[in-house]
Amino acid sequence: MENKLWTIVDVLKWTTDYFSEKGIESPRLNIELILCSVLNITRIDIYKQFDKPLSELELKNIRNMILKRVSGEPLQYILGKTTFLDIEIMVNDTVMIPRPETELLVKQVLDDYPNKYKKYRILDIGTGSGCIALYLAKKFPQSEVLAIDNSYFALLTAKNNGTNLAIRNVSFNQCDILNELPTNQKFDIVVSNPPYIPSEDYEELADEVKNHEPKDALTDGKDGLTFYNRFKDILPYLLNDDGKFYFEIGYNQKNKLIELFKESTFEIEFFEDFSGITRILRGKEILY
Ligand SMILES: C[S@@+](CC[C@H](N)C(=O)[O-])C[C@H]1O[C@@H](n2cnc3c(N)ncnc32)[C@H](O)[C@@H]1O
Repeated sequence: MENKLWTIVDVLKWTTDYFSEKGIESPRLNIELILCSVLNITRIDIYKQFDKPLSELELKNIRNMILKRVSGEPLQYILGKTTFLDIEIMVNDTVMIPRPETELLVKQVLDDYPNKYKKYRILDIGTGSGCIALYLAKKFPQSEVLAIDNSYFALLTAKNNGTNLAIRNVSFNQCDILNELPTNQKFDIVVSNPPYIPSEDYEELADEVKNHEPKDALTDGKDGLTFYNRFKDILPYLLNDDGKFYFEIGYNQKNKLIELFKESTFEIEFFEDFSGITRILRGKEILY
């Protein structure tokens, strides 16, 4: 990229090939999003401004991002943002990058509670970037959402996201859910995408994930069930009588969770993602 007048289309073509050689998935999309970020334009603009020459500073910033990407840094951290459903969420390496499976969790809650103007109390355990809590707060504007995490820095990111999105009906608390309860109040809806990857599966994750995303957000360091075990014990203190809970679960955890909740006072059901993998657990207390 030295000593040459580079246009947008030159960078697009060169980097698509370079990313392909380096084994980066979706190479063209990666460079398009880098161009959008550095030039502050939309993807449509890229195609409208193909022949626009780039300044030295723009090229320097693009080059830095390309280098980070080929070194394995996730694109979302490089750009500092990602999309969750239809909102933009700021991310950094203190929070896990929101995944599409988690959008399904949120959609399930939205489907189950069609009256968006009723007032619910909602708890999000392990809020990370705040994606679940903020999305639900936006869709249920009369409701009060409590977002908790044990990570101070994750909570800072989540709070900043709340400010950027001008969402005011969420409060944030630092709380280690394995050892304490966030409040003595009860909730209509409890949601969580907890760290559920068993320690042995964690070792098999891609370097891009292991080297960049916070380990404590991904794995419980044990069998992957630590948080669900704890939830089973504390849900009676957290849920209103007709309250429901929604958890994201790992691809092979359905049967283990059926077993775990078998002797409890909760009835549970599961929902699959588009590839037929069971991803969401929904439950409520059986009242006699
Ligand atoms: C899988 S991430 C989910 C983040 C976000 N809710 C999402 O869906 O993208 C799990 C989150 O749980 C938090 N966490 C881990 N251990 C915790 C604990 N003992 N108490 C509360 N939060 C915890 C992590 O910091 C992380 O933000």
